[in-house]
Amino acid sequence: MATASRPPESPWLITGAAGLLGSEIVRQAAGRWPLVGVIFQRQPQPLPGVSYLRLDVGDPAAVLRLLHTLRPRVIIHTAYRKAGPELERVTAAGAGHVAQAATQIGARLIHVSSDVLLDGEHAPYDESAQPASLHPYGQAKAEAERLVQQAAPAAAIVRTSLICQLDPPDPVSGWIIDSLRHSQPITLFTDEIRSPVWVQDLAAALIELAQTSFAGVLNVAGPQPLSRFEMGWRLARRIGLDPRGISAGSSLDSGLSRPRDCTLDVRLAQRLLRTRLRSYDEGLAVAP
Ligand SMILES: NC(=O)c1ccc[n+]([C@@H]2O[C@H](COP(=O)([O-])OP(=O)(O)OC[C@H]3O[C@@H](n4cnc5c(N)ncnc54)[C@H](OP(=O)(O)O)[C@@H]3O)[C@@H](O)[C@H]2O)c1
Repeated sequence: MATASRPPESPWLITGAAGLLGSEIVRQAAGRWPLVGVIFQRQPQPLPGVSYLRLDVGDPAAVLRLLHTLRPRVIIHTAYRKAGPELERVTAAGAGHVAQAATQIGARLIHVSSDVLLDGEHAPYDESAQPASLHPYGQAKAEAERLVQQAAPAAAIVRTSLICQLDPPDPVSGWIIDSLRHSQPITLFTDEIRSPVWVQDLAAALIELAQTSFAGVLNVAGPQPLSRFEMGWRLARRIGLDPRGISAGSSLDSGLSRPRDCTLDVRLAQRLLRTRLRSYDEGLAVAP
């Protein structure tokens, strides 16, 4: 890689640095390497050794300008939009701009992708699975993968699943906890299976992967496939809330176009990485 000629102070750059995953990567990497956190609207709390810069990853000229100026040795790209008018520009095209710039400056690129680009009908999925998404978000993440593979063939493309955190809770867990606390009944699908991963494990795995030359798709997720309903019940019990406020629903019967079983086969990551990917139950047991 062209990173060999870089000065030791050349930074790691994390996009989405105020987000759920990006902020945990920044927290774990701070003090180990000079860090630049790319932010968009939210302003994170200052951290020693971390500088934050605003960038719209959907603006190709701005991406090229910033990356050519900073010349980071590593880029971990987490920024995205899940929905709305910016989906294509930010999630798909933005990933392509970052990948193009990474190749031009010889930076090691880790691109964060998602299990929802799969069709959900042929689980478990190993790394050879081809995207066949059912909804716009999955299609945008599939297009992002295509653009990254095209512009930066040496990049690692990490397919992950529901990212969990308890303190503070990730948005989905927070919604479940708040609903139960306020006695608002909720329905969770029994036939939507995911491979939940603890944010600490995923961030550590991405940091480890950034120090390898692994290229191509890698599944990095939890080893315990669970339905959203099973996750909700486990979470409620762990928090000391009555799980009977959660009803069982069916994704199939809902009429929504959503992938059902996206179980990821994580055996390759378990062989390649020292970072242990804990099950949902293991993480719940020790989460603060
Ligand atoms: N969360 C999950 O369960 C899950 C599951 C599978 C895959 N993933 C993937 O994991 C990655 C990280 O997810 P996350 O949950 O950490 O997301 P998140 O908390 O929503 O963070 C996304 C970040 O992207 C930033 N962003 C939005 N538009 C931008 C733009 N135009 N330019 C620059 N930055 C922009 C946001 O900045 P502001 O904060 O300023 O708005 C935000 O900090 C994503 O690529 C996602 O597809 C997530």
